[in-house]
Amino acid sequence: MALLTFGETPVAIAPGENVLSALLAAGIDAPHSCRAGFCQTCLHRAVEGEIPAAAQQGLTDAQKAQGYFMACVCVPENPLKIVRVSDAPAETGVVVQAIDRLSPTVVRLRLEPNVSFSYRPGQFLALKAPDGFARNYSIASHPEEQSFLELHIRLLSNGRMSELISERLSPGDRLDISGPFGTCFYDDSDRDRPLVLVGAGTGLAPLWGVLRDALRRGHNGPIRLYHGALDRWGLYLVDELRALTEEHAHFSYIPCVRGEIGPAGGDLEAAVIEGERQPDLSSFFLCGGDGLVGRVKRGLFLKGAKLQRIRADIFLPAP
Ligand SMILES: Cc1cc2nc3c(=O)[nH]c(=O)nc-3n(C[C@H](O)[C@H](O)[C@H](O)COP(=O)(O)OP(=O)(O)OC[C@H]3O[C@@H](n4cnc5c(N)ncnc54)[C@H](O)[C@@H]3O)c2cc1C
Ligand code: FES
Repeated sequence: MALLTFGETPVAIAPGENVLSALLAAGIDAPHSCRAGFCQTCLHRAVEGEIPAAAQQGLTDAQKAQGYFMACVCVPENPLKIVRVSDAPAETGVVVQAIDRLSPTVVRLRLEPNVSFSYRPGQFLALKAPDGFARNYSIASHPEEQSFLELHIRLLSNGRMSELISERLSPGDRLDISGPFGTCFYDDSDRDRPLVLVGAGTGLAPLWGVLRDALRRGHNGPIRLYHGALDRWGLYLVDELRALTEEHAHFSYIPCVRGEIGPAGGDLEAAVIEGERQPDLSSFFLCGGDGLVGRVKRGLFLKGAKLQRIRADIFLPAP
C-alpha cells in the first residue's frame, strides 16, 4: 500500500509533508482554512492505517474512535488510507413530506425515508438533487420523536439547491440522501457539565436536535442556547425554544440579533465570549458559517475552553 491513498487513488507525499498539502498538490479539492490544526475544516477519516496522535489532538473521543483526523497536521509515517468525511457509502430514498417557511429565508423540509435511517440528532446528511448534485444539511429531527427527517435550509438567492427547494420541489417528490455523517451529537459523558449551544442562522438546525436529545437523556448541568441572526426575521423556533425554558428550569435561550438593543439584541460572538464565565468547565457545540464558528472557537479557547470539548459543524459551501 502507498504511504497515502485517497479513496482508491495513491497520492504522492514527500517525507515530512502533511496530508493536506499532498492532497492539494495532487489536485484534490480538500477543504481547509487555518492549516495549523485549529479549525478542523480539513477533517478527513482514515479507513486503514495508523493516525499520528498529533493529527487527532483536540478531537472528541467519538471523532477519534471513528478515525477522524486533521489533514493539515497529519504527517504519516506508515501507510494510511483516507476518505472524505462526507463520502457516502449508500443512498436512501426519501419522499418529501412537507415544505414550510420557518422565516422569510429559512425553509423546513420534512423527508420520509423509504427504509429505516439511523442517526443521532445533530449529525448531517447529503441531500441529492434529481440532476445529481448534492448538498449537506444538518438533521434537526429526533428519531424517537419523529419518523421524518427534518432539515432547516437557508435559501440563497443564487443557490442551486435553494432554487430547487423554493421553486421546483413539492410534497410527494422523491429524492436520495446519504449519511448520516459527523460527530455533532450529544454525548452522555457531558451530562453533568454546563452545555453551551451556539448557532448562527440555520446553525440552529443541529442544535435543535442536540438540545432535545440532551433533555431526553436527562442532562443535569445548565444548558444555554445562543441563536444569532442578522435581523429579527432570522430568528426562528422562538416560541418552541421559549416553551422549553418554561418546562426546564436549567435551560436558557439567548437570542442575539445583530445591531439591536434589548432582550434579543446584540452580537452573537460577544454574547458568548462575554457571557460564558467558566468555559474550562463547559462542553460546546458551535454551528454555522466558518467565520463565526472560527472566531467563537478561538475566543473560547483563549478563555480556557478545552478544545476536545468543542464540537463544531461548519456550514462550508459545496466545492
Ligand atoms: C456539514 C454541513 C452542514 C450543513 N448544514 C446546513 C443546514 O443545516 N442548513 C443550511 O441552510 N445549510 C447547511 N449547510 C450548507 C449547505 O450544504 C449548502 O452549502 C447551502 O445550502 C447552499 O447550497 P445551494 O446549492 O443553495 O447554494 P450553492 O449553489 O452551493 O451556492 C450559491 C452561492 O452561495 C455561496 N454559498 C453557499 N453556501 C454558503 C453559505 N453557507 N454562506 C455564504 N455563502 C454561501 C456559494 O459559494 C455560491 O457563490 C451545511 C454545510 C455543511 C458542510
Ligand atoms: S485547516 Fe486543518 S485544522 Fe484548520
